[in-house]
Amino acid sequence: MKRLILFAMMVFILSGSLFAQKKVKFFNLIPSPTELNLGRGEFVLNSKTTIKADQKSSVMANFLCEVLSTTLNTEIAVQIGSNSANTANSIVFAWSDEKTLGPQGYRLEITPDNVTIHANEANGFFMAISTIRQLLPIEGKRVSLPSLTIMDKPEFTWRGMMLDVGRHYFPKEVVKRYIDLLSFYKFTELHWHLTDDQGWRIEIKKYPKLTEVGAWRTEANGSKYGGFYKQEEIREIVAYAQSRGITIVPEIEMPGHSMAALTAYPELSCTGGPFTVPTGWGVFEDVYCAGKESTFTFMENVLTEVLDLFPSTFIHIGGDECPKTRWSKCPDCQKRIKDEGLKDEAQLQSYFVNRIEKFLNSRGRRLTGWDEILEGGIAPNATVQLWRDWKYAKEAAQTGHDVIMSPTSHTYLNTSPEQLTLEKVYTFYPMPDEFPAELQKHILGGECDLWTENVLNGDRIDFQMFPRILAMSECLWNGKTRQSYTDFNARVQTEYARLQKMGIKYGPEGPVYTVNCDYDKAITEFVVKVKEISKGFEYHYTLDGTEPVLASMKVVNNEIRFKGSAHFRLQSFLNNYPNGTQTDRHFVAHKALGAEVTMVNPLNKNYPGNSKNNLCDGIMGTSNFGDGYWQALTYNDMIAIVDMGEEKSFTEVSLDMVSKASSWILFPYGVFFEVSNDGKEFKGIGTVQNDLPLNTLSLIQKKFGIKLKDPEKARYIKVTAKNPGLLPEWHLSKGEAAWIFFDELIVK
Ligand code: ACM
Ligand code: ZN
Repeated sequence: MKRLILFAMMVFILSGSLFAQKKVKFFNLIPSPTELNLGRGEFVLNSKTTIKADQKSSVMANFLCEVLSTTLNTEIAVQIGSNSANTANSIVFAWSDEKTLGPQGYRLEITPDNVTIHANEANGFFMAISTIRQLLPIEGKRVSLPSLTIMDKPEFTWRGMMLDVGRHYFPKEVVKRYIDLLSFYKFTELHWHLTDDQGWRIEIKKYPKLTEVGAWRTEANGSKYGGFYKQEEIREIVAYAQSRGITIVPEIEMPGHSMAALTAYPELSCTGGPFTVPTGWGVFEDVYCAGKESTFTFMENVLTEVLDLFPSTFIHIGGDECPKTRWSKCPDCQKRIKDEGLKDEAQLQSYFVNRIEKFLNSRGRRLTGWDEILEGGIAPNATVQLWRDWKYAKEAAQTGHDVIMSPTSHTYLNTSPEQLTLEKVYTFYPMPDEFPAELQKHILGGECDLWTENVLNGDRIDFQMFPRILAMSECLWNGKTRQSYTDFNARVQTEYARLQKMGIKYGPEGPVYTVNCDYDKAITEFVVKVKEISKGFEYHYTLDGTEPVLASMKVVNNEIRFKGSAHFRLQSFLNNYPNGTQTDRHFVAHKALGAEVTMVNPLNKNYPGNSKNNLCDGIMGTSNFGDGYWQALTYNDMIAIVDMGEEKSFTEVSLDMVSKASSWILFPYGVFFEVSNDGKEFKGIGTVQNDLPLNTLSLIQKKFGIKLKDPEKARYIKVTAKNPGLLPEWHLSKGEAAWIFFDELIVK
């Protein structure tokens, strides 16, 4: 009897610790499975392991074969046939009809003898494969899987990521890499934003100029930037995604964000153009004309080719941020409003989307668009992708429409990790608070969005995406029942080893540190102070512009001091791996360094600079005009008097300025330099006119400088930058006061 009690107690203890646990800490599974029961021993994979599947599951079997053969470094066999009985050393794909598994759930049984994957649908098998991939050891020669049983299924079936290739183009191999990573973390959709103002990226045979013209833009420095996917490349990418259980939802943006297409075919606009493919980011007034029939013929022809390339049920048509200014003045658009009995331009947009929806529905597809498609009346069968206020979810669901949740507050991965932390993403639950029970079925799931205005390459995608995509994976899979953030974060810490192995250049979880730069006039040294926000990091830096690595100089006592000019780069490291935003700054030692600066016109209070003598502190403003080292004023000219303390001889004077028309910042008309020895009587020594166009929307920097034939001797320098005053006629906000931004006055 005693023995029996002891036995019962042991079973109880074991079942509470080893067996039947939900919160399993043994394996680093992200997302964590619904139920995991640990067995004894392990299934060891080797060259004789065989994968067994029927014809219907052969795609999944081949994918698993590819994964395991790569891990084992030897090709293993796949047997396709109707007899999928489980024998020793085999992995079997077994169709199931367990209702509880749903469309994406699976049951995975691993014993020392064999492995069985049960699923009702293909997606369930793909999810099980992701689990197997994550169960494989990260390091070591022994390739094995632990004995266990997993029953797993997601709370939300739409788990996506949007990748914008319009603003920056990423080659085919880069796109495939993200497809693989999305599959690895059990996502289901890649929402591929293929067209935008700054680039049309999909080859359309009927309209070759879309890519000959619309895929390329001329940058401020005169260089050509662009690229596009040929149809055969798209077919290859779609097939690759299918082989990994990822559906690609293509987005062809309309009626707004269409400058690239309109540059190629200006006759599709209200005014007829001409246009250029913009280099800057923003919202543009020129959009497809909703009055002309030719616009709809064009759209249908384009979509016909798109449907031929993409088998997805959903086709995304954008629909966001479409200004109505051109429509309100266009005779064709106004005629359409009158003929169709529409109330206004909002209803004209609704008419546009409705027509496109009818076309897509007639081809057996469903339309989805950003939440602006609600305005003016939503198309009858449309699915809404929410990005603005959560209230639109209710508005859509109440009228019977499905919703994909991607609010900027939680899911915009283009936001810096300092602003949108890993922890904040982890709080994302796609169901809005107090959402009526009868409407909940309309919330399909969620998506994170990666807009690429400031994402130039794959490394930067990694930085923006990881580790925050892991939080998204967990939130969408486990939803209400997800673990505490502490438990999740512990798994993320372990996951870093895998991310490193996969070559992922992940970003930080949130703010790591800040720096403050100064010039110490008394001892003529630059001083950089590092303020730690997160614990456990080490800091290394270089002064010659090279990449800081672990072998670079180490920051001691949170302070760095140096003399002379430097290209300073600082990197935070966690566990010997770069983690955190890199600081990249230029310091210039020059003759006016540390000079007293008097500003004649007051600076704007939001841009006072780092110190009163910011203009001559040797610390150059960066490509972020809000970095604290740029000074600015609005409407007025900038006039500064610089006192170098004693007469100095020099041959060069320059002032660095920044322009970004989309933020109302323009270059000055010109910059005028004067000198004096008493600070009262000044004489002019040179003027530089601006020679760059004022209307570049994105940020550009320019040095306004003069070189003198003979050295000039003076104690005081006066610099005047002529503000354009008001934003000109071409500007969306014409008539408002323009800003000028300036940083270092350099004297050599
Ligand atoms: C969006 O961010 N304009 C959908
Ligand atoms: Zn029009």
